Amino acid sequence: MRVGFYQSNPAFGEVKRNLDSVAARLAQVRCDLMVLPELFATGYQFISKEEVDSVAEPVPGGPTTQRLLELARERAMHIVAGLPERSGNRCYNSAVMAGPSGFLGVYRKVHLFYEETLFFSPGDTGFQVWDIGSAKVGVMVCFDWFYPEAARTLALKGADILCHPSNLVLPHCPDAMVTRCLENHVFSVTANRIGSEERGGKQRLTYIGHSEIVTPGGRVLRRAPADQEELTILDIDPTEARDKSLNQYNDLLRDLRPHLYGL
Ligand code: ACM
Repeated sequence: MRVGFYQSNPAFGEVKRNLDSVAARLAQVRCDLMVLPELFATGYQFISKEEVDSVAEPVPGGPTTQRLLELARERAMHIVAGLPERSGNRCYNSAVMAGPSGFLGVYRKVHLFYEETLFFSPGDTGFQVWDIGSAKVGVMVCFDWFYPEAARTLALKGADILCHPSNLVLPHCPDAMVTRCLENHVFSVTANRIGSEERGGKQRLTYIGHSEIVTPGGRVLRRAPADQEELTILDIDPTEARDKSLNQYNDLLRDLRPHLYGL
């Protein structure tokens, strides 16, 4: 199975331009699963709720999801990508799963980071796993990495691969995802962005790049540089994630003791 990420540098608010640039970059690509960053077509540093509302789109009817569906069909690939979703009078920091035969679903980010808490509603979809044929794929978005419950829930729901659209600003995530993979024996594909934003007199945010693909054994197959765009596609065997035995005495999920974890 071929999986990849596109570490991009979106221009804030230039949705059409960002979509065109992603489509051009993926035009020659052949893979089964491609992960794009969080809020990949809008940029990240919103300065008001009104601004989020002006670019948020219904899912799957909005132009960004429709464009992703077109790309997924043309390139015969699955694409996981982040976008601001409008539903009723709420906006969510969401990630959609688009496949060659259509829309599979949406995940709404549960753990909102920093000023996202001012502009977005916390996600209400729960953690989702989709069977895309070659693998079972779960989705978490950026700061969800800080909560091991996110990756654990996806693993318990059968995910072989964690797709992780991100706009990382803290330095710890690339190493933390190695632990998330080890402790759940799953693959991860983190797609981060590069560049920086400093809007509306707010603190400058510098995105740390370092998108990566990690194995269930915690091996980093590829970590992208901090400050350059990169499209990476690698071959993995997702069935590696299904054997949870650690040694002849320990099996990761069998050995859980949930009756002792309650408060
Ligand atoms: C983040 O959740 N975008 C850091």
